[in-house]
Amino acid sequence: MVSRSETSVGNWKLKRNIYISFFLFLVLGISIYLYRNQREIAIEQVFPGKVWAKPIENLPNLKGVGAPTAKNCGSCHTEIYEEWKRSTHANALSDIQFQSELAKPSSPKWICLNCHIPVQNQRETIITGLKNGDYFRPVEIPNPSFNAEMKAEGVTCATCHVRVDSESKESYVIGALGGTSPPHPVKIDRKQLQERCYDCHNETYTLNESLVCSFQTGTELLSTKSNESCSSCHQPEVRRSIVKPSLHKPIRKSHKHGFIGAGVPKTFDLYPDQIRLGYKPGIVLTEIKVEKNTIEVQIGNINANHHVTTGDPERFYRLLLVGLDRDGHSIFNAETTIGQEWSWSPVAKKVGDTRIPFGEKFVWKLKQSDLPIVSFKFQAIHVRLKNITSDYMIQSSGYVSSPYREKVEKMKDLYPHSSLVIESLYHINSKSRKDTPLEELFKRNQLRKGE
Ligand code: HEC
Ligand code: HEC
Ligand code: HEC
Ligand code: HEC
Ligand code: HEC
Repeated sequence: MVSRSETSVGNWKLKRNIYISFFLFLVLGISIYLYRNQREIAIEQVFPGKVWAKPIENLPNLKGVGAPTAKNCGSCHTEIYEEWKRSTHANALSDIQFQSELAKPSSPKWICLNCHIPVQNQRETIITGLKNGDYFRPVEIPNPSFNAEMKAEGVTCATCHVRVDSESKESYVIGALGGTSPPHPVKIDRKQLQERCYDCHNETYTLNESLVCSFQTGTELLSTKSNESCSSCHQPEVRRSIVKPSLHKPIRKSHKHGFIGAGVPKTFDLYPDQIRLGYKPGIVLTEIKVEKNTIEVQIGNINANHHVTTGDPERFYRLLLVGLDRDGHSIFNAETTIGQEWSWSPVAKKVGDTRIPFGEKFVWKLKQSDLPIVSFKFQAIHVRLKNITSDYMIQSSGYVSSPYREKVEKMKDLYPHSSLVIESLYHINSKSRKDTPLEELFKRNQLRKGE
């Protein structure tokens, strides 16, 4: 027999056990949650096989050179240094647009920096892993080999040229020529040097709904089946001594290091160097035809063995056609674009693509009007940054810290948004064409503002 009081004791014990187990479960649950949330996961595990997920390891001082900074390389390789200094690579950190985008709360900064300042010596901290594999929660420790001067150098010489020997643990230079007599250790591997471009310029990866990396220049080049490398166009060949004259070294095959692409430099004072360092438009105006009712403008991608435009999805070409009367007054205007079109929210996706693959043509057909047009002026403008995008960047400059904030605020004046790269005047009657020389266009570009 069980008395009433015995039953209530039993109930109480049962209840107590339930409470205890519930409490234990709760503690276990919280511990598992905290453990999982705080545990550090290796970057390789989160981004397997991704070169850009990690910087190049800390590089010890290079024998015969010292710290592997571009400035030190430049004390002997003076001309190459002077060219590189004017390149987009050298400006990859100081770029006003980059600083504005980097400062956005939605940017996983360390990932951006892995391609824009890619050597560990350029970074204040070493990232040992990611909390719970979350790329917004890197675990960072101070980097004893941090070099502030090298940080400012962006895609510095060592990005492509310096590595650590796995046995001796010493730094060496990767060269391409062979048969030279440098004061620093060198290993010749031209292929590795040339293929390095793909690590940064050929990547498509969706990080999250609104952060997508979409650079397919390498894939585009490979699909043309040509034997050209990126360097054959972006590092034009030149014969010269590869070091300063006082070292009395022979004239060799060398390559300009200006890495010119779109001809839209990062600052206005770099315009005068674009053509000297190898700029040439990828597109060519192959034909203007004016018939009774139609005007046809044909543009061919003749000089770039990849799409025009390539790389950053926000770049595009603006094509303008203006009809002029006998007195040179504009009486007709038309405009179109060549490029990709993306919609960024709520989910990033490509919604249009009119780019020109290598060897192909873009045909722009327009209806002829009844206006008394005697000539047409055609212009092609390569746009890096739209006016509305820089408006937005100026509005959100509060995220950016000094000294870049002041630059973002003034970016309409400081940052070239676009370049005029083709201009041609076509007379209907004589069917003759007069193209403005590239040198003249680049003088004008230095004074143009906006898109
Ligand atoms: C003290 C002078 C000096 C410094 C500093 C220096 N170099 Fe050199 N480097 C040379 C000389 C000399 C040669 C050989 C020139 C020759 O024989 O024509 C050379 C050759 C090279 C070559 C070509 C090797 C080949 O055979 O293809 C590369 C690449 C190179 N250096 C890169 C660098 C880099 C990168 C740095 C900086 C990290 C650097 N150098 C710093 C003097 C220097
Ligand atoms: C995989 C390497 C890589 C990563 C990661 C990367 N970038 Fe870049 N970035 C590039 C390359 C390559 C270019 C040049 C592309 C071109 O010129 O078309 C570039 C260009 C840019 C430009 C200039 C665009 C222009 O048209 O001039 C900005 C701004 C920029 N990146 C911002 C960022 C930000 C912000 C992040 C991080 C969210 C980031 N990048 C991460 C490789 C990278
Ligand atoms: C570590 C990453 C990295 C590597 C490796 C790299 N680049 Fe770049 N490159 C960049 C970034 C980042 C930019 C854009 C910087 C910016 O706009 O602020 C850029 C810009 C350029 C541009 C200028 C495009 C323009 O018109 O603005 C050219 C051309 C270029 N790279 C060619 C090359 C070539 C050729 C190679 C190989 C020899 C190479 N790059 C290797 C990261 C890289
Ligand atoms: C984005 C990658 C990249 C960067 C950055 C870079 N180089 Fe090069 N460099 C190359 C490539 C690729 C070659 C070989 C080109 C070939 O042989 O087709 C080369 C060749 C050389 C050579 C051999 C001679 C010649 O001109 O071909 C020297 C010397 C050299 N680089 C020095 C430097 C110095 C110094 C810096 C920095 C001021 C630098 N490079 C920055 C990619 C780079
Ligand atoms: C046959 C020559 C040629 C080869 C090979 C080539 N490029 Fe280009 N590239 C050009 C020309 C010309 C332009 C200028 C296009 C324009 O603005 O009309 C250009 C533009 C660019 C730009 C600026 C973005 C743009 O759309 O203007 C980048 C970035 C670039 N190239 C990277 C590369 C990389 C990376 C490789 C190798 C995978 C490569 N290029 C191979 C000729 C070449």
